[in-house]
Amino acid sequence: MSSDRVKRICIIGASGKLGQYMVGHALERGYEVVGVCRERSVQKLAAFEGRMTVVPGPTNDPEVIRRAVAGCDGVLTVLVPWGVQQYASGTAQAVLDHAPPGARLVFSCGWHITRDGEDRYSRMFTMGVRIAAVLGKIVRAVEIDDQVEACRRVFASDTRWTVVRGSSLEEGQSQGLPVWSRHVGDPVLASNLTRRVDFALFMVEALGDDTLVQQAPAIVGCRTPSAFAHAGGLPKHA
Ligand SMILES: NC(=O)c1ccc[n+]([C@@H]2O[C@H](COP(=O)([O-])OP(=O)(O)OC[C@H]3O[C@@H](n4cnc5c(N)ncnc54)[C@H](OP(=O)(O)O)[C@@H]3O)[C@@H](O)[C@H]2O)c1
Repeated sequence: MSSDRVKRICIIGASGKLGQYMVGHALERGYEVVGVCRERSVQKLAAFEGRMTVVPGPTNDPEVIRRAVAGCDGVLTVLVPWGVQQYASGTAQAVLDHAPPGARLVFSCGWHITRDGEDRYSRMFTMGVRIAAVLGKIVRAVEIDDQVEACRRVFASDTRWTVVRGSSLEEGQSQGLPVWSRHVGDPVLASNLTRRVDFALFMVEALGDDTLVQQAPAIVGCRTPSAFAHAGGLPKHA
């Protein structure tokens, strides 16, 4: 689906930091926006009141998702590993089951997700993910394995999906659309830093980019040293 055919979109996990940036970008593009978030987080979307529809409820509730995605040309889903209730895989499954046929489905996750096992991680990165997974399980706050399972289901589906794999994130003004590569470990990604607002921009832009269908781009900020090095050095205005 090209961007001129995307009119109505659903943002699942709209109240989080990434979600709110996505709502902003989508409204700027003139999309009709439906957002889903937990009931207690609805007030986080107060700044958008009157400009979007909010469907309150757990994002892993199939009935909530069925109502929210009805009639949508695109669905942007924030996959998070929080809690110990298979929240990420439940959310992904509900979207895969209920999104209208042919809709563009874009999911967020981190670099730790690998589609084909060809990603090359530093020892430090791998150790950090392992420690977070073990500690998260012990304190029953994080289920990294479930985010992996969520993405496995997306990769196995025959829908028009894109899984956007974010690097480490920082806040700050937009620097523009991140650059991407197929595999973590590719030199262009070495800086491992993206502004969260630009991660959101990439998610929204992916709705209209058919070259990203059934791809799992790993992204990095377009003004990071590794992105500049890949582009042949600093541009004059940098
Ligand atoms: N943080 C990073 O450094 C980083 C790095 C790379 C990739 N990513 C990816 O970026 C995306 C956004 O991550 P983020 O860290 O920036 O967070 P975020 O955008 O603030 O989103 C957090 C989301 O998790 C929900 N949430 C929080 N606690 C929850 C719980 N106990 N049960 C269910 N839902 C809960 C929030 O909902 P409420 O608004 O209802 O609380 C919100 O929708 C994720 O896909 C993540 O994998 C993050």
